[in-house]
Amino acid sequence: MYNVPKRPFYASISGKGGTGKTVLTALLLRVLLEASINDEVLIVDADPATNLPQVLGIPINKTIGDVAEEFRRGFQKLDNLGFEKSALLEYYIMRDCIVEMDRFDFIAMGRGEGEGCYCYVNAVLSGILGKLVQHYSVVLMDMEAGLEHLNRRLDRHVNTFIIVVDNSLMSLKTAEKIKEIIREVNLKIDEIYVVGNRLSSKREEDIVKWASQNKLKYAGTIPEDKCIAEHAATGTPLLNIPSNSEALKAAYQIAKNINLI
Ligand SMILES: Nc1ncnc2c1ncn2[C@@H]1O[C@H](COP(=O)(O)OP(=O)(O)OP(=O)(O)O)[C@@H](O)[C@H]1O
Ligand SMILES: [Mg+2]
Repeated sequence: MYNVPKRPFYASISGKGGTGKTVLTALLLRVLLEASINDEVLIVDADPATNLPQVLGIPINKTIGDVAEEFRRGFQKLDNLGFEKSALLEYYIMRDCIVEMDRFDFIAMGRGEGEGCYCYVNAVLSGILGKLVQHYSVVLMDMEAGLEHLNRRLDRHVNTFIIVVDNSLMSLKTAEKIKEIIREVNLKIDEIYVVGNRLSSKREEDIVKWASQNKLKYAGTIPEDKCIAEHAATGTPLLNIPSNSEALKAAYQIAKNINLI
């Protein structure tokens, strides 16, 4: 029985800090590009730290935070102009922030400056994301660590959660809280998956059990991989990871398990 990729596939890749969210986003993108499915793909770096462009080797011009900040400064005195400011802001973001790569598009959220601006950037991103995702069949969002993105409503445009956990108990607690908040804020999510990263074999068994007890679907484990460490050390794009990498093979199986390919 073949997996039938479910579309649209809009995923939030979340979890505790440092568990491997950005690495998983990069690996899943590589798998998707190799699977040669005719998808319109958007990759969103929703972490204000903006690590994903470096990890993927994508030259970015401006983040949404940059544009929103410029806009806010330039237009704050022009309240009575009588035109739709949000339409203009949207135009600038489409023009300056979307990077068109060969087979996918990319956008980075970045951050605003000063107090309160971060919320403003999130409000802008969330509004624009809602419109933007409609043009794509697959959207992968590399989230900020922890739970804040749920409060900022960035996840309301996704139908799938992929929560990354590692050997730490704290990463499991974060996953449980994410699930709880999804229910509390009434997000309409089709599936919540868990992916283990760099688990010891003893720990993997426990985590598979924990996932089933918490009604989370365990999608697979990415092993510790020296190719990833090498890419991190040298800064070469993870998209070029060798085909025989164990982590990439695991990501391929995970992509199948979650109906991405
Ligand atoms: N399977 C792996 N094998 C080897 N190194 C890994 C693996 N997974 C992650 N790493 C390394 O661990 C570090 C953290 O990974 P990553 O940046 O993907 O985590 P993250 O969850 O996105 O972190 P943050 O919460 O800061 O965004 C990186 O240096 C990455 O290269
Ligand atoms: Mg990250």
